Amino acid sequence: MAKIKTAYFCQNCGHNSPKWLGKCPSCGEWNTFVEELIEKEDKNGPVVWKSLSLTSKPKAITEIKYEQEPRVRTTDVELNRVLGGGIVGGSLVLIGGEPGIGKSTLMLQIALTLSDKKVLYISGEESEQQIKMRAERMDSKSDQCFILTDNSTTNIFRQIEEMQPDIIIVDSIQTMQSPLIETGAGSVSQVRQCTSEFMKYAKETDTPTFMIGHITKDGSLAGPKVLEHMVDTVLQFEGDRHTSYRILRTTKNRFGSTSELGIYEMQSTGLRQVTNPSEILISQRDEPLSGIAIGSMLEGNRPLMIEIQSLVSVANYGTPQRSSTGFDAKRLQMLLAVLEKRGGFRLGIQDVFLNIAGGLKVDDPALDLAVVTSIVSSYEDIPLPGSVCFSAEVGLGGEVRAVNRIESRISEAQKLGFKTIYVSKYNTKGLDVSEYDIEVKPVARLDEIFEQLLR
Ligand code: TYD
Ligand code: MG
Repeated sequence: MAKIKTAYFCQNCGHNSPKWLGKCPSCGEWNTFVEELIEKEDKNGPVVWKSLSLTSKPKAITEIKYEQEPRVRTTDVELNRVLGGGIVGGSLVLIGGEPGIGKSTLMLQIALTLSDKKVLYISGEESEQQIKMRAERMDSKSDQCFILTDNSTTNIFRQIEEMQPDIIIVDSIQTMQSPLIETGAGSVSQVRQCTSEFMKYAKETDTPTFMIGHITKDGSLAGPKVLEHMVDTVLQFEGDRHTSYRILRTTKNRFGSTSELGIYEMQSTGLRQVTNPSEILISQRDEPLSGIAIGSMLEGNRPLMIEIQSLVSVANYGTPQRSSTGFDAKRLQMLLAVLEKRGGFRLGIQDVFLNIAGGLKVDDPALDLAVVTSIVSSYEDIPLPGSVCFSAEVGLGGEVRAVNRIESRISEAQKLGFKTIYVSKYNTKGLDVSEYDIEVKPVARLDEIFEQLLR
């Protein structure tokens, strides 16, 4: 009888071991090892993809010719941006995101807008009817978009060889199944095997391939970490399910920068590109309200103006609450302590609620100043002028600290029609403030701002 080879794989990180372990030595998770068959002995089974190049030889680096890859530019400006300028030939792109966030919608929409390319959309999750129904809702139509609902890579590659698509989309890699591996779809070794089959095909035929990947509860891509190492680009599709805005973020890119970001809005006709995000992140209102401050932050390389809302009220029921949505709770605690100690505000007996408008999650320290002023504005019940915005970090001593790329932040504020921006004094060295139409106010300490705006 043929010998069957098995090994134990950590379902969290993909670490393998010849015997079962209670705790994974690589990621530290407990009870994650599952026995999986590594290889079936039957080599006469269906061969999935035969390598075209039989041998490869070493070459001197000077002999290797390099031409700037012609990129396929899609009509989706946001996608082009996150990919570093368009789709690169033969690249393998992984798109991760929570269920229901819109991964399938995004990929189908891209398939439909690339009307001059033959796109094969492989779905292991939904039926043809479901996909058609989704396509019906969208504005774009293409007769070059083909749907294949299957999850066995044997048949998939047979169809691919016959059809020779220009672009392949796999929805999702966790539903694919290779006959070379016995375990069920979604297991670590299956995911790894299927990825490597698609990768081989992509590299040898220069066909760009997009793979959708599920993510686990803690937000990392399901399946082995190795998946992220294998692919060229990892995109993360995220957003709050209760709001319609979605962010496409690059977390790895062999062909471009990882600090790029695309913003979409989910509408009834699919995803709309948001070209001027700041406008939607600041709510329009007629009269100023207390507790609202506008800060300038950078998401990747993109400056965004964002609205911070605070509500400070006397805690009537026992322990005061601190609650923040979209902003790090620890950082909020720290800023409150600074206000208490350095500003003399008695916040220890107050409930403090903080909210970042638009459902965004932010972690740029340059928002500190806006957070602090919005809290004080609510505490004193004095509204801030609508034409003012902030961009600086706040230190533990109540000092206003410099932030990076201040020029692009100021320009964005100016573009959106703000009249005054408060920045750190230490940011203005070497900065020619006369260049801007917006008034740039340098401050060194928090008291100066409160003096000017909130007394
Ligand atoms: P979907 O692409 O199926 O998510 P994923 O593949 O990431 O699991 O998107 C699902 C959600 O998107 C669903 O709740 C309905 C919504 N949606 C719209 O709001 N408008 C649309 O035009 C489409 C196609 C979907
Ligand atoms: Mg889907």
